This record gives sequence, C-alpha cells and structure tokens, in this order.
Amino acid sequence: MTAAHPSLSPAGRWNGRVTSRPLPDPAESLRGLSLAERALLANIWLSQSATERRVADAFAVVHRALVALDADAGLIETAARAVDDEHRHAELCRLVASQYAGKSLPHPPLLPFAHPTHPSASSDRVRQCLYVLGQCAFNETFASAYLEAALACATVTYAKSAIRELLSDEIDHSRVGWAFAATMPQRERAEVQSWLLDLAICNLREWRAIALPSVSNPVVLRHGVPAKDKVEAALLSVIDAVMIPGFERFGFAVDELRHWRAQGAPTE
Ligand SMILES: [Fe+2]
Ligand SMILES: [Fe+2]
Repeated sequence: MTAAHPSLSPAGRWNGRVTSRPLPDPAESLRGLSLAERALLANIWLSQSATERRVADAFAVVHRALVALDADAGLIETAARAVDDEHRHAELCRLVASQYAGKSLPHPPLLPFAHPTHPSASSDRVRQCLYVLGQCAFNETFASAYLEAALACATVTYAKSAIRELLSDEIDHSRVGWAFAATMPQRERAEVQSWLLDLAICNLREWRAIALPSVSNPVVLRHGVPAKDKVEAALLSVIDAVMIPGFERFGFAVDELRHWRAQGAPTE
C-alpha cells in the first residue's frame, strides 16, 4: 500500500523522480523576472505544494472508501497510486517554487486536513460514495479545468512543463470518479443523486476562492497563473462540458444541476 511505496520517505514525502521527463532548464524562463515577481511565483508554487500534500490525505480517504465499497480493483489501485501522485506533486511544486526563489525552500507546513463528513447521509456506504464523487468527479475535474486555464495562459516553457505534469495526473484522478459513477451500486445511486448539487456547490466555492483577483501582472500570467475571469470561465465550462453530461450519461438526473448552472452556478 501507499505507506510502503519505495519513493515515499517515512514522513510521507516523495524521494524519487518528480516528473515523467526532466523539466527544462529554468534559466531562460527566469530571465527578466524582478525579485518581486520571483517571490510572488515562489509563494504561489509553495502554496500549491501544501495543497497537493493535503490532497494526498484526501485520496487516502477515497482509497479507503473504494476498498470498503468493494469497488473495481482497477479503481482501488488507481486511487492508491493517486496518493503517491499527490505526494509527488507536492514535491514538484516545492522544487518549482525553489527555482523561482533561487534557493531550496523547505517543505511548507502541513495544512490541516478535514474532509466533509456528510453527517446526514443515510449510511456509511452512501457517505463513502460521496467521498469518491466529491474528490474525484468534482474536485479533480475542477482541478483539471483550472490547470488547463493555467496552461492556456502560460508561455514560459518551464512553467508549462510543470503544469502539464500536474494536469495529466489530475485528469486520471478525475476518471476514478467518473468510472465509479458509471459503476455505482444501484442501491446507493438514488440517494447519492440528491447530493450532487451540494457537492457541486461546495467544490465550486473552493475553486472560486483559489483564483487570485490580484493577479493582473502579465509577467505572472505568462508563468501560468491564470486571471480570475479565465479561471471562472474554465470552471463553468467544465460543468457544462463534463459534469452535467457525464452524470446524465451515467444515469443520474441532472435537472437540479442544470437549473443551478442556468442561474450562474451561485455558491454564496
Ligand atoms: Fe495533484
Ligand atoms: Fe489529483
């Protein structure tokens, strides 16, 4: 299991190679950045590192849920690998932050981890289904949309390469949720359906909060930090293009989601 992965240290930190192919030499990408811009980018990537580390904890919950639900072995295996992926992402982001900072930065402090407990769910099985869908079908799909927006605005090779590494894994992680939605046991399906709108609202609220309203510096944009309006467009677009048609295709009623989306997808 994940704790025994040879690339994870006893502290759960990634010791191995962090990318599928080496990142390009950062020197050209860093040229021309002011000290303030470098500090801002280092800070953004270090914050991302902390977030990725917390997502590893979330995937440990997803993995346990899939085991308890006796889900498809391939999904269980992918969820276990996702825990390692997120540790690797945390290290990748720390290394990128260090390049921007011009020195090796320490691991950021662990963010407190708490996942929604869904106390009003009618059974543990329903609760476990909600963990899987909330983290994978919603959070990782929104993460993929965010990273696509980041990639679209990035022109700097070094940043683009790092973002691509994250994006390819997050798409895989979202597929765990969609494959699970397609194969969900019938007895949990009806109740889970009534939670979809709540999951969508909670997740979208979090992702809207991540977009940085203060980022308008075109230099920073070129390094893959998307402007708030681009993030909003990407998040709404993935609801329309993936989430609503995805749940509909897998047999869930999506009238509530459609109605919410038609209202502008409010999260207040
Ligand atoms: Fe990640
Ligand atoms: Fe992920």
